[in-house]
Amino acid sequence: MINFQFYSPTEIVFGKDSELGVAHLLKKHGATKVLFHYGGGSIKGSGLYDRVIKTLDDENIAYLELGGVVPNPRASLVREGIKIVKENNIDFILAVGGGSVMDSAKAIAVGAKYEGDFWDLYDGTKITAALPLGVIVTIPASGSEASNSSVITNDDLGLKRGTNSDFIRPKFAIMNPELTYTLPNYHAFAGVVDMMSHIFERYLTNTPDVELTDLMQESVLVAIMDNAKRLLKDPYDYNARAHIMWAGTIAHNGVLGVGRTTDWASHGLEHELSALYDVSHGAGLAVIFPHYMLYIIDHDVDRFYRLAVNVMKVRPNKNDKRGVAIKGIRKLQEFYKSLGMPLTFEDIGAKKEDIPKLVEQLNINKGDTFGGFVKLTMDDARKIYESC
Ligand code: NZQ
Ligand code: ZN
Repeated sequence: MINFQFYSPTEIVFGKDSELGVAHLLKKHGATKVLFHYGGGSIKGSGLYDRVIKTLDDENIAYLELGGVVPNPRASLVREGIKIVKENNIDFILAVGGGSVMDSAKAIAVGAKYEGDFWDLYDGTKITAALPLGVIVTIPASGSEASNSSVITNDDLGLKRGTNSDFIRPKFAIMNPELTYTLPNYHAFAGVVDMMSHIFERYLTNTPDVELTDLMQESVLVAIMDNAKRLLKDPYDYNARAHIMWAGTIAHNGVLGVGRTTDWASHGLEHELSALYDVSHGAGLAVIFPHYMLYIIDHDVDRFYRLAVNVMKVRPNKNDKRGVAIKGIRKLQEFYKSLGMPLTFEDIGAKKEDIPKLVEQLNINKGDTFGGFVKLTMDDARKIYESC
């Protein structure tokens, strides 16, 4: 096991009606004037918006609102949010929604403490301060509720980029699985693919002898798949929703990835699809990840054999480890298909003739090589996109 630091300070309040405690949490974390940040219509349709407003009013918490965050959240709205925060002395941001709303809130939080344009901080510049933020999660997927990341699409430049900093870890995350009942299957299952991918990115390691985290990862993957199958049968299965929701958080709060090298090549490849086609991040990963695994399988056949046997439940056969490993990846694709997820470029409307552009953008964002498991070149990226 390699040396590590683990820091996950977010206070999680999980369960039925947990959103009713939002005012208490805001006060506990020192909020006096709040920016209430949210997405499109879903929180109004579900009644969550009214409940939050009522609690803020009842508890005399001053707030301004900024809705309108779209999936693959845009820099233009972030700039609007930063302006509101600076002009109104707002000292806390409350994000109510999914990864897009949370990431937009994080970007506003860093921009509010920065003199220049916030986008500078999505270019590797170190973040040194941010306003505190708290979240009410409405879709389990990104893990942003306890992660140190924010991913924003710059609508002028056509670039999608992330930044990392402990300053943007939320102070609290309210997670009520019942809030996810209204999710359309497509978003719910894109979320499932995303959280599984966050585990795969950590599973693909070059660090030997990390059995504890290997086993933890495999167990969480199995639980996610089992509970996703339950949701296919009954979207109102509370315990299945609860398992998926908590799995989404631990998949990405760092606990499963300690003490080992990690990968993140597939996230890099996918972000270019989201940037160019505005495809849902999880749906893009359903296309990219299995094809990527097939492309690099020979880097460590044993690891893919293990994944096939322990997670995808392929019958073991030590005389044909590669064959078993490939079956595991094929079974993963079948599982994604059963969730209604896309498997190919064609399924998401991506075009072969755009591949040079995807590779060019990837090159701008990542440099000439990327990936922590296998060092990939832009030529590898082209071949992986082609195989999709
Ligand atoms: O805008 P509304 O109307 O709320 O609709 C949203 C949106 O259309 C809808 N939705 C959310 N909760 C709902 C609901 N609909 C009905 N009922 C509910 N309870 O779902 C749609 C998708 O929402 P979005 O926030 O975009 O989904 P997700 O949570 O998957 O977030 C995706 C974003 O997170 C980034 C991705 O790149 C992408 O931009 N990621 C962020 C990470 C991080 N910060 O750590 C890590 C991830 O790898 C990921 O890159
Ligand atoms: Zn992701």
